[in-house]
Amino acid sequence: MKILYATSEAVPFCKTGGLADVAGSLPPALAGEKAEVAVIMPLYTRVREKFGDQLQFVCYDFVDLAWRHCYCGLFSCEKDGVTWYFIDNEQYFNRPDLYGYDDDSERFAFFSRAVVRMLQHMKFWPDVIHCNDWQTALIPIYLADDGVREEKFRSIRTALSVHNVEYQGRTGRDSLEYIFGLPSGWAEDGTIMMDGDVNLLKGALLCADAINAVSPTYASELKQAYFAHRLEGIMSQCDYKLSGVLNGIDMVRYDPAADKAIAANYSLADMSGKAECKLALQREMGLNEEAETPIIALVSRLVSHKGLDLICEVLHDIMKLPVQVVVLGKGDKRFEEFFAWAAEQYPGRLGVRLDYNEALSMAIYSGADLFLMPSKSEPCGLSQMIAMRYGTVPIVRETGGLKDTVHAYQSWNDSGNGFSFAEYNAYDMLHVIGEAVELYMNEKEAFARLRQRAMEGDFSWAKSAREYLNIYCTITGLPMPGAEAAVEAAVTEEAPAAEEAPKKRVRKTTKKAAEETAGEEKPKRTRKVKKADEAAAEAVVTEEKPKRTRKSKKVEEAAVEAAVTEEAPAAEEAPKKRVRKTTKKAAEETAGEEKPKRTRKTKKTEETPVVAEEPKAEE
Ligand code: GLC
Repeated sequence: MKILYATSEAVPFCKTGGLADVAGSLPPALAGEKAEVAVIMPLYTRVREKFGDQLQFVCYDFVDLAWRHCYCGLFSCEKDGVTWYFIDNEQYFNRPDLYGYDDDSERFAFFSRAVVRMLQHMKFWPDVIHCNDWQTALIPIYLADDGVREEKFRSIRTALSVHNVEYQGRTGRDSLEYIFGLPSGWAEDGTIMMDGDVNLLKGALLCADAINAVSPTYASELKQAYFAHRLEGIMSQCDYKLSGVLNGIDMVRYDPAADKAIAANYSLADMSGKAECKLALQREMGLNEEAETPIIALVSRLVSHKGLDLICEVLHDIMKLPVQVVVLGKGDKRFEEFFAWAAEQYPGRLGVRLDYNEALSMAIYSGADLFLMPSKSEPCGLSQMIAMRYGTVPIVRETGGLKDTVHAYQSWNDSGNGFSFAEYNAYDMLHVIGEAVELYMNEKEAFARLRQRAMEGDFSWAKSAREYLNIYCTITGLPMPGAEAAVEAAVTEEAPAAEEAPKKRVRKTTKKAAEETAGEEKPKRTRKVKKADEAAAEAVVTEEKPKRTRKSKKVEEAAVEAAVTEEAPAAEEAPKKRVRKTTKKAAEETAGEEKPKRTRKTKKTEETPVVAEEPKAEE
């Protein structure tokens, strides 16, 4: 299984948010599960400056984007079993920041087009391109566009991860042809349009073979208007291919027993180092050096959806409790001003640093006792997992990945790994903070057990990486990586007859055997997959198929009409499913264009042949 992971940022090369952490740790985890993995991202100035000497020049080519004909360099390096590719174009990426420019949509359109264009220069031809958020949303769209799509692209399946639906890549209608180089058919049939604008994320949701949200709860929230920023209808329409896979964290990088960045190491066997970390944090933030006073921490972008309104509302009530508070982050001016002001009101008890600072964030994860994340919405959230790993007990609102990772403390059966509240209400939050402080101060053993459960949580990528592989297997029809090789040997030994059979047959045997041997790892026919099958069946008999080739819709419709008229008698005798096929096929012939993409639906409906039939990788 060959996976190309396309992202606009990745640790350690550059980072503005959680996507970078995921892109830095999921691909190595996939490689650890025996997939062949490459990552592709832009070669930003800051990447070139810090990592330039480790990158090898592979080649250059030219990328056509609307009327533009742009230079495109390709660099690479090997790291953690993954090949990293970097797309070079100085005009677009030689800038101090990653995002925030007027031409961001053009920059990432170039990047997306370049990913498709440069495939031929990479070490393998991918079975799946895994895209992330709006910046790479054009990849599934380009792969479905007749302007780009040649025969060799047909084998590629696409998966799209939604890390934050708030950012959708919206631009004016004119950008479709002028910037993205797409024909007007994309707007005419509405695929890429939303509220009168081009909306790249919407287009990608419809075009991708699989969509996933970064936590199971977020996957269901995305179908609700409160969370989906107007894409709830599309999400519901795409439910058959939508899943939720919880992010993991890099358990090696975030390990209090080995982390060199913290004041003292500690583990469950000996927690004394955490007290040292606490003292170091108090010194660093100018807090009173009180070992017994619980420190509540907030490490966050200072923006509204992180739930900061709740904190502003009851900060004085929080400060009436016997606590210290540390705040690290930057963001909206109103929150920055509020926290700067609040720090002055509570000297020695409230420490604020308006900054994004990796080293200080580690000092906080290790030195604090409670970690506050009252987010209005939180697709996954990584901080609460890092905090738990460092024995800092989270207090969260029950939304998205926070709900999936933090389970409320219950005193009656001594369970849970944190504290939580459900309503977006400042006094509910205050109440829960009060409970947490009470437990810390007055029930030390119960708090220690709670902290232990938090630290014991498995937040590694292993499980989620396998879930991603299951998704890739579902959309490609390929067996689980690793299973195929192991089983091929077994098949050769146990079933020599297979060797005499035609290639396709051998593959089938192999695949089946692979699934059997893979045991729990075999691509499960989950409810979702089942649903997908049902949806596929429906798609054959209804007009509502979400994604089609990008021929001019009018031409296509005319062609369908013509074909229906011509072939009507025969069609009427045939069963319904057959009619559609005939009609559609005739339409294509009439239109004189390429065969439409074999979408996952069609593929499943027709009982997809196996790997042997896929076009060969371009070396
Ligand atoms: C975004 C989300 C965050 C998630 C991260 C990685 O930053 O806001 O919740 O953890 O992406 O998926």
